[in-house]
Amino acid sequence: MRDLSYKYKNENRVAIPDFNIDSRGVFCITGANGSGKSTLLSLIAGLIPPTTGRIEFSFCVKNEVPDTSSTPDILFFSQGRDVMSMSVRDNVRMGMPFGDEEICEMLVKLGASSLLDELPDRLDTELGANGIGVSSGQKQILFATHLLLSRPRMALLDEISSNMDVIVKNRLLDLLEELGQESLVLVVTHDEDVLARFSNQIRLDAPVVSENTTKNERAT
Ligand SMILES: Nc1ncnc2c1ncn2[C@@H]1O[C@H](COP(=O)(O)OP(=O)(O)OP(=O)(O)O)[C@@H](O)[C@H]1O
Ligand SMILES: [Mg+2]
Repeated sequence: MRDLSYKYKNENRVAIPDFNIDSRGVFCITGANGSGKSTLLSLIAGLIPPTTGRIEFSFCVKNEVPDTSSTPDILFFSQGRDVMSMSVRDNVRMGMPFGDEEICEMLVKLGASSLLDELPDRLDTELGANGIGVSSGQKQILFATHLLLSRPRMALLDEISSNMDVIVKNRLLDLLEELGQESLVLVVTHDEDVLARFSNQIRLDAPVVSENTTKNERAT
């Protein structure tokens, strides 16, 4: 990243400090509320264009990952993402051809197989507006199951484990470490357990500057 910044419509400008990532692995992105972590992931995912600066990919993860037609390049789990109005199975699949057995095996690996026991129709249970609600932690388990079955070349994860219980979270961290052997995994987190696990950390402390704010106002 070089001189990267993004200006929101209300003139808030988020400046991202320069940094390089030169290998695969799991990297934590940390920093205070409002320091720009979610903005950075949106920039990397290409959802918003940089106002200044650029993002260069100096190494290629693409050819180093087993290439199957179903391996996505980038998977982005945005902060506060919700489930969709469809079955549990389709929420985990999200268009990918995962079988029921694979899904159940991954839930077992995550230590979360009891999730299906709690749902009236197991994988067929409808979620969202036309179905039942699930807890924030259960939603994160469904997203994590999709992620771990998809094995993207780059995973951008904004607080994917913040509502998980400690058992599931630790299983997920093991599995992310494994995924990091072949992919680039960027994890936005405030969680000390996650930070203790992964020594590669990028800290964003850049203050957000409102370009409508005068110097005097900023000094007070
Ligand atoms: N939609 C928006 N419109 C205007 N300004 C925004 C918008 N989203 C974010 N910002 C500004 O950008 C700054 C960075 O926001 P961002 O969501 O990237 O922070 P964050 O580090 O992810 O915070 P948190 O830890 O609370 O999730 C915020 O302080 C805010 O001022
Ligand atoms: Mg955020």
